[in-house]
Amino acid sequence: MNKKIVFALLLTALCSLSACGNDDIGSLDDSVIVKQGTLNDDTEDVSDENLQTKVSGYVVTEVPTTTVTSATDELGNIIAETVPVEQPPETPSPETPEAETPAKAVPETPEPSVIDYTPSTATPGTPASTAVLPADAPTESDYNYGPAPMVYDIPGIKYIDNVLIANKSYSLPADFYPDLDQTCLNQFYKLQNDASAVGLNIYLSSGFRSYETQDYIYNDYVARDGQEKADTYSARPGHSEHQSGLAIDVNQIDDTFIGTPEAIWLEAHCYEYGFILRYPQSKQDITGYKYESWHIRYVGTDLSYKIHSKAVEMGDPYLTLEEYFGIDSYYH
Ligand code: DAL
Ligand code: ZN
Repeated sequence: MNKKIVFALLLTALCSLSACGNDDIGSLDDSVIVKQGTLNDDTEDVSDENLQTKVSGYVVTEVPTTTVTSATDELGNIIAETVPVEQPPETPSPETPEAETPAKAVPETPEPSVIDYTPSTATPGTPASTAVLPADAPTESDYNYGPAPMVYDIPGIKYIDNVLIANKSYSLPADFYPDLDQTCLNQFYKLQNDASAVGLNIYLSSGFRSYETQDYIYNDYVARDGQEKADTYSARPGHSEHQSGLAIDVNQIDDTFIGTPEAIWLEAHCYEYGFILRYPQSKQDITGYKYESWHIRYVGTDLSYKIHSKAVEMGDPYLTLEEYFGIDSYYH
């Protein structure tokens, strides 16, 4: 009798253990979630919540393994490369016909880790010329002081006095993918704060753009306007300053920005933060691009003050990098 009871108890225990095991395996299988791809865009570096709101929807989203990406072009048109994941597709306005463009395949994005982004041994902040810094230039202890950007020791990148050059004459390697320079972004925040203090709303609309994104944007323009016209306002892939991580487009990225209080303030004050207006009015023959009131290039306050001083000296309000360094900008 006792033996029977013991046997029955043993049998029950064994069945129970077996069922439990199956349940565990089943629930484990169900709970495995494999996440693929990352959402990576220029806004990720933005820590300020308000600023994130201001910059939302802007730019260039680089997503190699997902279907999420969008870009705002140089004319302010929103190019929907694919449909954003967490929000409905943009409602196209009459000014943004490209928003209706059907989703296209996301170009392959190079793996950033293949490049050695170790800065060269060049001293950051090395003056771009022997010219003495203007007396009003900020020093390291000043709020507005902005050091020169990092110098990359990568073959194929043109530097003059440690200043990266990206224009029609000088291109960047296709796999150069530095993302938006952190000092450039910090200086932009200062600029934005000071503009805000006088009641102006300057926000980041487009920052870093990869070679692939620029290729997509440029070819879209060529298809729309033909190459000759596209070349007057959009850089060919490899030739955009946006790929350097040192250029920022602000606000609406089209000619409606011209003459606004924000545009006037930006032109007058951006050098105080280490930026220059890169494609000024009446300089198309020199820069190769029509006037872009919204595109600023970070060079650091040492150089921006020198360029500004020289411009004042010459009676020319907006001296270009091409004029300052004596270089050209055309497709060779
Ligand atoms: N709009 C400027 C020239 C660019 O495409 O980088
Ligand atoms: Zn731009």
